[in-house]
Amino acid sequence: MSDVADPPMPASDGRSPGHVLTVERLVECSEDDLHALCEAATAGIIEGGGFGWVRPPGRNALESYYRGLMLVPERELFVARMDQVIVGSAQLVRPARNNEAQAFAANVMHVFIAPYARGHGLGHLLIRRVEEAARALGYHVLNLDVRETQEEAIRLYESLGYVRWGVHPAYARVHGKTVRGYYYYKILKPSGSRATRSAPSEPNQ
Ligand SMILES: CC(C)(COP(=O)(O)OP(=O)(O)OC[C@H]1O[C@@H](n2cnc3c(N)ncnc32)[C@H](O)[C@@H]1OP(=O)(O)O)[C@@H](O)C(=O)NCCC(=O)NCCS
Repeated sequence: MSDVADPPMPASDGRSPGHVLTVERLVECSEDDLHALCEAATAGIIEGGGFGWVRPPGRNALESYYRGLMLVPERELFVARMDQVIVGSAQLVRPARNNEAQAFAANVMHVFIAPYARGHGLGHLLIRRVEEAARALGYHVLNLDVRETQEEAIRLYESLGYVRWGVHPAYARVHGKTVRGYYYYKILKPSGSRATRSAPSEPNQ
């Protein structure tokens, strides 16, 4: 099993009896975890994306990608597990250190749950866990963007309180078609803990 920085967060909604649903930050990746992550990512890319990839890049490219990702200090990888097997992930991306003006805001990127594990509440848990981590790191705003075609993700984000503030008319090219992109933000309500960066209480547009 992997070493993890944070204890796994058990599913709290109880809507999937028979399955153990957890989300954790992955700081070291075992071979088993890497295998499951690559399988899940490949299936996720085929069934709806969640990455820049439109077609699965192959096992070697994905392995190199995840091994490299573990070394990037600005990125934290969160994984969702069903019955202990990784079935999805999301990345919390911190702003560049020279970006003082936006030091209060982080991004959530590359969110996906493999098709075989969708609809059990893991996507919801994953985003909530990333939000908690962002809050604990002192961030007050989470930003994300999504293709207009990713309807489940749009529903999930909007149900969690993300506010759409913009539309990019030429956001991505998918199978020869240009698709729009939706841009969202969420102001993270302080949990009364370690918020350190000053941030607007209202969007500063
Ligand atoms: C978006 C995505 C991550 C959602 O993952 P998920 O694990 O299926 O999400 P959830 O299970 O938390 O919620 C999905 C739906 O299942 C429902 N659900 C949750 N638990 C359930 C259960 N036990 N039984 C039935 N339905 C359930 C939720 O209510 C939700 O329904 P709603 O949208 O009508 O409210 C997934 O669809 C995905 O990977 N899509 C492709 C990639 C993508 O678009 N990524 C975003 C890029 S920014």
